[in-house]
Amino acid sequence: MEKNIAVLSGDGIGPEVIHQSLRVLDAIGTKYDHKFIYHNCLVGGISIEKTGIPISKSTLDTCLECDSILFGAIGNPKYENSKIRPEQGLLKLRKKMGVYINIRPIKVYKKLLKISPIKKKYIENVDFIIYRELTNGIYFGKKGLSLNKTKAYDVCNYEKKTISRIATAAFKAALKRKKKVTLVDKANVLETSRLWRETLKEIHLNFKEVQLDYLFIDNASMQMIFNPKKFDILLTDNMFGDILSDEASAITGSLGLIPSSSIGKKTPMYEPIHGSYPQAAGKNIANPLGSILSVAMMLEDFGMKKESFLIKKAVNNSIKNGVSTKDLNPKYSFSTKEVGDFLINYIIKI
Ligand code: IPM
Ligand code: MN
Repeated sequence: MEKNIAVLSGDGIGPEVIHQSLRVLDAIGTKYDHKFIYHNCLVGGISIEKTGIPISKSTLDTCLECDSILFGAIGNPKYENSKIRPEQGLLKLRKKMGVYINIRPIKVYKKLLKISPIKKKYIENVDFIIYRELTNGIYFGKKGLSLNKTKAYDVCNYEKKTISRIATAAFKAALKRKKKVTLVDKANVLETSRLWRETLKEIHLNFKEVQLDYLFIDNASMQMIFNPKKFDILLTDNMFGDILSDEASAITGSLGLIPSSSIGKKTPMYEPIHGSYPQAAGKNIANPLGSILSVAMMLEDFGMKKESFLIKKAVNNSIKNGVSTKDLNPKYSFSTKEVGDFLINYIIKI
C-alpha cells in the first residue's frame, strides 16, 4: 500500500518522538512492502517563528490532501502571555479536519504496576478507552475579555447532532468490548451536560445491549483513582476529556505512554496525549511510546492489522525487558533513540 502522511512535529520533544515514530514506520514499510510518503509541515511555536502564525494555509492544505496526519506536540512557555499561541494551531487543525472523536486508550502494563502511584490491587488489568468530543464545547465557544481586563468569558456550546455522532461511535465501540458506556458530565449544574444526557438516552434505545451509566465529573475523577476497573468506554465532552485523560494516564505510570487517534469528517490525526515538555527537549530522554503507539492506531485504521499488532507487540516487549525511558525505568533508563532502536530491531528480526 502507498500512504501519504502529513508530519507535523511541532515543538519541544515533538520532533524527537516523531523521529522515532517515522523510523518505526519505515521498518514496517520495509518489512511489509508499504510506501509511506512523508510531508513535513509547520505547526505551533515553530510555525509562529517561521511564518508569524501557528498554522498556515499551506499546512492545512497539505493535511487535507494526505491520508493521515502524524502530530508531535506543541507549546512553548515563551508564548504564555501572547495573543498568538501555539495551541491555536492545533485547535484550528482539529476544527478544519472535523475530527470530532478523540480516542485515548488507557491500559496498565503488568511490568509498570510498580511505578504507578496507585496501589496494584486497584489498577491491575485496567483497560478502558476515553471517547473525548474534540471539536466543540468550551474550547470553541465565543470568548472574550473586557477592555480593562477585569472580566472574561468562554461559552460552552453543544448541539444534539454534535453529541449524537460521537455517542453513536462510543456505543458501537462498546459493542466490541465489555458493552459499557459511562457518560461523564456535570448535569447537576450545566445545561450542556443535561443535553448530553437526554441525547444519550435516545441513542441508547438503538444499543440496548450496552449498559449506560452516568457520572458527574467530580465523582468520576475520584472513581478513576479508587475504581478505574469500572470503566470500559468513558464518553465525555472536550474539556472534561482533556482533564480526565491526563488523570487516567497517571494510573498507567506515565503520560508519555498514551496514544490517541482523532477521527471524523476529513483527514484523521494521530498524536500522543502529552505536551511539548520543553524542559526535556533535545535531551534524548523523552518517551517515544505515546507517539509510536499512535502510529499503531493509524495503521489499524489503514486496515494494516498485522502491522499495527507488530508495533504493539514490540512495545510490549520493550516494556517487559525494561528498555524504557526514565519515566518508566528511572534506575536503568534508556534514551529515546535506544527505545526506537530496540523496537526497530524487534520488528525487522521477528
Ligand atoms: C491535548 C492537549 C491540547 C488540548 C492542548 C495542547 C490545546 O492538552 O491534546 O490534550 O487541550 O486539547
Ligand atoms: Mn491535554
